Amino acid sequence: MKTMQALPASSERIPAKRTQYRSGFRGLVRRLYVRHIRPRVRERIHQQRLKLICWDGWGYWRLFAVRQLTVRQRLHLLRRFLVVDWNVLHAHKPHEISWLSQALAERRGRPGETVIEAGCWQGGSSTKLSVLCRMLGYRLEVYDSFQGVEPREPGDTSATYDFSGEYCMPESVLRGHLEQYGEPGVCSIHPGWFADTLAARPADKPVRLVYIDCDLAKGTREALLGTVPALAPDSWIFSQDFHIEPVRSYLCDMATWRELGVVRPNIRRVGPCLAAIRFSRPTGGAA
Ligand SMILES: C[S@@+](CC[C@H](N)C(=O)[O-])C[C@H]1O[C@@H](n2cnc3c(N)ncnc32)[C@H](O)[C@@H]1O
Repeated sequence: MKTMQALPASSERIPAKRTQYRSGFRGLVRRLYVRHIRPRVRERIHQQRLKLICWDGWGYWRLFAVRQLTVRQRLHLLRRFLVVDWNVLHAHKPHEISWLSQALAERRGRPGETVIEAGCWQGGSSTKLSVLCRMLGYRLEVYDSFQGVEPREPGDTSATYDFSGEYCMPESVLRGHLEQYGEPGVCSIHPGWFADTLAARPADKPVRLVYIDCDLAKGTREALLGTVPALAPDSWIFSQDFHIEPVRSYLCDMATWRELGVVRPNIRRVGPCLAAIRFSRPTGGAA
């Protein structure tokens, strides 16, 4: 994996997600898709399949760069991930889950080590992570309200878009997808708001990777409160919400990490929405 570059503490210089698609060939393809194809393909799962075939699927190239896995394991992951992409509507991209896979596959899990997912919706990412965890010897702890994105606090106008209540899905849908396409045997599910689960009862096992996808700075903070104290020395944190300004500002703020009692980690944007966060020194959490 390449050395991570620290991002500036201020988020102003970081381009927003959408601007990256507006120019060049990708911008053209995207505009053609939005104007001519999307109106004819109404079902979102069909849109996801189309994008998978046309361009998103290429994002899995990174899986083939994971030297710690055998060719057979890489092909196994690719097959299982594609089955999920075809059947489960989700809110991430193949290249994003490939980054997580590459990070986690740096080494096998040690006894008791976990991966924590904060925000699962229908379980598309959980299902893929469960396959990876099973392969590498980790447990997967999935946290979600199952009531959608937490409503904004009254008077909160920090974000331009209000996600309140979006991605609401019952726990049974996650369980069904894990049963059908994933590895339910390595998973534990924690329903409830992060304020009452993760932040109130921080992880008690070493955490090797945290994947936060909840669309809010508040939820991101609560997920970090519940996981940073238990991070393994070579842990990774991924935020799927780096295109959302309040989340980006929160993560890039020195005060965030001071409150968590750790030095500010390196934060590297590795996709339009995804940031990879890593401490250059051990956090003093679980060894
Ligand atoms: C964008 S979706 C997750 C998508 C999923 N990772 C995927 O790739 O398909 C965001 C999820 O975060 C959950 N969520 C948001 N805020 C939360 C909070 N404060 N506590 C618990 N769950 C929350 C929502 O219920 C929703 O399922």
